[in-house]
Amino acid sequence: MKKTCVLVTGAAGEIGHNLIERLKQPILALDIVKPDQTLPSHVDFRQGSVTDKEFIKSLGDEFSFSAIIHLAGVLSSGSEEDPFHAHDLNVNGSLNMLHLAHSQAQTENRSPVFVFASTIAVYSINPPFDKFSAGKINEEQFLNPVSMYGMNKLYVERLGQYFSTTIRTNTGSRVDFRALRFPGILSAETVPTTGTSDYGPLMLHAAAKGEAYSCFVPEDATLNFMVMPDAVEALVGISGADAAALTRRVYNVTSFSVTAAEIKSQVLKAFPQAEISFDPVSWRTNLISSWPMDTDDSAARSDWGWIPRFNREQSFQDYLVPGVRRKYGLGLDH
Ligand SMILES: NC(=O)c1ccc[n+]([C@@H]2O[C@H](COP(=O)([O-])OP(=O)(O)OC[C@H]3O[C@@H](n4cnc5c(N)ncnc54)[C@H](O)[C@@H]3O)[C@@H](O)[C@H]2O)c1
Repeated sequence: MKKTCVLVTGAAGEIGHNLIERLKQPILALDIVKPDQTLPSHVDFRQGSVTDKEFIKSLGDEFSFSAIIHLAGVLSSGSEEDPFHAHDLNVNGSLNMLHLAHSQAQTENRSPVFVFASTIAVYSINPPFDKFSAGKINEEQFLNPVSMYGMNKLYVERLGQYFSTTIRTNTGSRVDFRALRFPGILSAETVPTTGTSDYGPLMLHAAAKGEAYSCFVPEDATLNFMVMPDAVEALVGISGADAAALTRRVYNVTSFSVTAAEIKSQVLKAFPQAEISFDPVSWRTNLISSWPMDTDDSAARSDWGWIPRFNREQSFQDYLVPGVRRKYGLGLDH
């Protein structure tokens, strides 16, 4: 008898780390590296790669996955630094996970939910269009990514659609694919490494550590963001949403849009001594320039009740600043 559980890939990463703490049902956590936290008793861990077909297949022989939440991947800046690795991990690794879900749909005659962490990098707004006049864009606009990461993610969204609706089946059961297009995610607990929206959290963490920070995008760089607790709730929300209520397979989710200069002023409010300068790096700035300033998440709000708990002010005051102060042992008074 196979054990039933939720599979979370990339479980040791920024989002995975928080998600496995939040989910209460039995979980199989998978990552290429060991998580640095002590895992709760409802979490089993397997170390291995999503690109290892035999390893992934063996998990399907042992477990019945009610849902697969696929987070393993390399983010935008890491993908530009090694586009071949990015393609292998983000595309081939995702195909292996979809294959696993599809095999379970076939052998167990059911429709496992497959949740994919996508991104606003699937969009690209380039001349003659302007991201500021484009405003909040919906899921169907400007799907013309130029980065390896954006192309990888958009293709996997399309593969998910294919596995859910088109692929031939013996049983009639198909994967129930759902994707969230996340904006930049700000976490108080962890410091990101391979994303291009990382300047937001890096500015804050450096200030809390008393270190100077040189920002790799200009002051007017504008993107949308959300904080980690909202990202985790979005994943929980889409995973549990009633399939009949979903009008799309891919949803924008967001909280607030902000410039790099506004992030700096929020950080200075909490850490007045912070030394933050701007020294833009062109290839990273170009990525940010092509991404929307904001996304329209009204479909997620109306279909499955998505609503972020933290707006811009609350994100800094109620979550980020107290969180980083705690992380670096600064106490809550300043
Ligand atoms: N953090 C953000 O701002 C953001 C925004 C949009 C989308 N996303 C997406 O969310 C997902 C998770 O992001 P994150 O911020 O937690 O990233 P992260 O880099 O912190 O975590 C990714 C995890 O994947 C693991 N991994 C790498 N290669 C692997 C392999 N071959 N097999 C198994 N695991 C492997 C890494 O060890 C890491 O723990 C990613 O797919 C990312 O593209 C993140």
